[in-house]
Amino acid sequence: MNYNTDFEMDFEDRMVDTAEIPSDGIDADNPLRPRTLDEYIGQEKAKENLRIFIEAAKKRGESLDHVLLYGPPGLGKTTLSGIIANEMGVSIRITSGPAIEKPGDLAALLTNLNPGDVLFIDEIHRLSRAVEEILYPSMEDFAIDIITGKGQMAASYHLPLPRFTLVGATTRAGQLTAPLRDRFGVVLRLELYTPEELAKIITRSAGILGIKIDEEGALELASRSRGTPRIANRLLKRVRDFSEVISDGVIDLKVAQIALDKLEIDELGLDQNDRRMLNAMIKYYKGGPVGLETLAAAIGEEAVTIEDVYEPYLMQIGFLSRTPRGRCVTAAAYEHLGYKAPADTAAAQGSLFND
Ligand code: ADE
Repeated sequence: MNYNTDFEMDFEDRMVDTAEIPSDGIDADNPLRPRTLDEYIGQEKAKENLRIFIEAAKKRGESLDHVLLYGPPGLGKTTLSGIIANEMGVSIRITSGPAIEKPGDLAALLTNLNPGDVLFIDEIHRLSRAVEEILYPSMEDFAIDIITGKGQMAASYHLPLPRFTLVGATTRAGQLTAPLRDRFGVVLRLELYTPEELAKIITRSAGILGIKIDEEGALELASRSRGTPRIANRLLKRVRDFSEVISDGVIDLKVAQIALDKLEIDELGLDQNDRRMLNAMIKYYKGGPVGLETLAAAIGEEAVTIEDVYEPYLMQIGFLSRTPRGRCVTAAAYEHLGYKAPADTAAAQGSLFND
């Protein structure tokens, strides 16, 4: 496969200017990140399969097949990619779709890999077309073809690459092009965590950070963390602040409740943004159906934020449904927000067509 002149220029000019995000940050920054599959709590299905694929690849002395991780933000996609590298005994290079601006950026990253290394591309759905096109032969044939020079001076080189493992992460698998999606041998969907799993993560994190928390305190925090470890760990640190100032430094049920109420996170984990969105749907659109873009404009939020950040949890707890005609608030959400649910909520009708 050959590439256009943009690529010639970039490749030559930017060989050393890679789009790599320093990967020592993966652990240095965050002591809470588990390093092994055994330490990683939850995502049992994904973990079980990964364990097999890793063991099989190691037994054969091969690199792991390319892995696509998808699911809502904050569930541990970066963490899992670090674990994959660690379990395979290889290095990891971390970058993201938007950071790889030009094909040359990707070529520089790929040519610097050692055999077996993991290249982690976060937000892989945001790769440009031109970059995606050199990713295909890299993933499939472990080689890229480049052209240097122009006109009569043009020369084409076949550049072999080490066999590497691409780990791609995305919040939206549906936005990947089919050719890219098809090149991942392992596709794993990460799910929101249960409160019990989150309580284990919180207890583990508290141990690492030297925070005292009892079982009930951990479960209270967990059930208000929207199924998301990143939120759970963030709340743990904020609630610790309350516990040290208003109490004896131990997070128990009472301290957790007081702190979370002060942070305006309700018993189900809804924050001001969730409530603002649901309230707008009820007040301005009679609970829906309302189109995503219309809703985004009404609350001054990006449509992708609504889709990636607000909706997964609201749908999981049955407060929101998606219908072909738009989003609808359910009767349960009306009641939670203190409204009387209309007998004929659009949600109730729409749910017949739920996707
Ligand atoms: N910290 C963040 N996510 C985690 C997980 N899944 N298991 C253990 N600790 C975590």
